[in-house]
Amino acid sequence: MASGTQGGTITIVRGRLLWFHHEPLGADDEASFTLIEDGGLVCRNGCIAWVGDWSDLPADHRDADYADHRPHLVLPGFIDPHIHFPQGQVVASYAGSLLEWLNTYTFIEEQRYGDPRFAATMAKRFCDMLLAHGTTTCVAFGSVHKGSATALLAEAATRNMRLVTGKVMMDRNAPEALTDTAQSGYDDTKALIADWHGEARLEVAISPRFALTSTDAQMEAAGALAREHPECLIQTHLSENHGEIEAVEALFPDAADYTDVYERFGLLTDKSLMGHCIHLSAREIGRMAETGAVAVFCPTSNLFLGSGLFDLDRIKGGGVRHAIATDIGGGTSWSLLKTLDEGYKVLNLQGHRYHPMRAFWQATLGNAEAIGMADRIGTLDAGTEADFIVLDARATEAMALRMETVETLAEELFVLQTLGDDRAVTAAYVAGRITHATA
Ligand code: GUN
Ligand code: FE
Repeated sequence: MASGTQGGTITIVRGRLLWFHHEPLGADDEASFTLIEDGGLVCRNGCIAWVGDWSDLPADHRDADYADHRPHLVLPGFIDPHIHFPQGQVVASYAGSLLEWLNTYTFIEEQRYGDPRFAATMAKRFCDMLLAHGTTTCVAFGSVHKGSATALLAEAATRNMRLVTGKVMMDRNAPEALTDTAQSGYDDTKALIADWHGEARLEVAISPRFALTSTDAQMEAAGALAREHPECLIQTHLSENHGEIEAVEALFPDAADYTDVYERFGLLTDKSLMGHCIHLSAREIGRMAETGAVAVFCPTSNLFLGSGLFDLDRIKGGGVRHAIATDIGGGTSWSLLKTLDEGYKVLNLQGHRYHPMRAFWQATLGNAEAIGMADRIGTLDAGTEADFIVLDARATEAMALRMETVETLAEELFVLQTLGDDRAVTAAYVAGRITHATA
């Protein structure tokens, strides 16, 4: 219900509002979140202008139209900090493990994104998929082609989405049609940053794909970009698969280990999003913690490609910042709900627990902190950007059946994360405007 008034475009929403203030320290950490059973949000010019009890709605809005989402939960939009734009049609490719999957399917498919028209069409479909799954912000790898990143940035701009992407840098160990050079990868990334970083709600990430597909010269170039643009996130892959780790160590014999390869080139900083981090040594965990780099847990991908079990307790215990992500298309679901579900199972296999309050903190505020945007997204705090979603815990017959016996918020969230997917996302709002609704 958007209406133009003197104060700009206004959207008013009513529902059960839930958002987090910090990572829940335990199941009963009530200070970590706010739940308003009958809450209201007033959005003006893309931001949350007012939030509170519906009964306290400011008088000047009392007669306005509003969207009534009760009894559903309204949460900050999910944030996906590791996803591949050119892999929507790689999902569900019948591969064994990472290197076979990359060479057989992924490095073939990504060549198609050299065609700007194809990239533009797929950018629309990519953003549609994100929103249908309740993801309002992502940090996405493009293909090697600068035009792939441009297509995604342009599409996100038309929707006013907050989105980060970059063209991947890769100058070896891939088909010729999918490689750049140290110089062209640098130049193209530099041009993307100049044209797009900070425009609208967009950012550009420095994106060396992984150490296996970059020469020393390209790693140097990526490091130079990181030094010249400390405002930019860096996204890459680290320690996902044993074959990958051995190959990287053979290519960089002077490095202490895989993490050290990135660190030597200036790519291990508090802006670094390191996908996977499954097989790290104690030394590597120590360096991750000291530099402030983020370990990104990608459970559906790690299970699908048989990569291994991410040890969240060890990562967290070591003081490493962390996030959770889909990793489409090594990952098998676009849904952060399904991702939390698989994350729960990965941790349970190691004898650890993943409480739903922690899981929902991670997919919202936790991921916002990991990408350095917690002051703008990831909560429903007044003054932040109005990206939020509506979740129906009775979206399917199975969920409705289970919900008959649910009594607490934590139980409801656990039903959502264990049984939910895009069917549970009944609406998504981007910058205060509804972009997706199923009911
Ligand atoms: N390592 C290098 N590239 C990729 C990729 O596209 N997906 C995953 N899961 N791992 C990678
Ligand atoms: Fe990935």
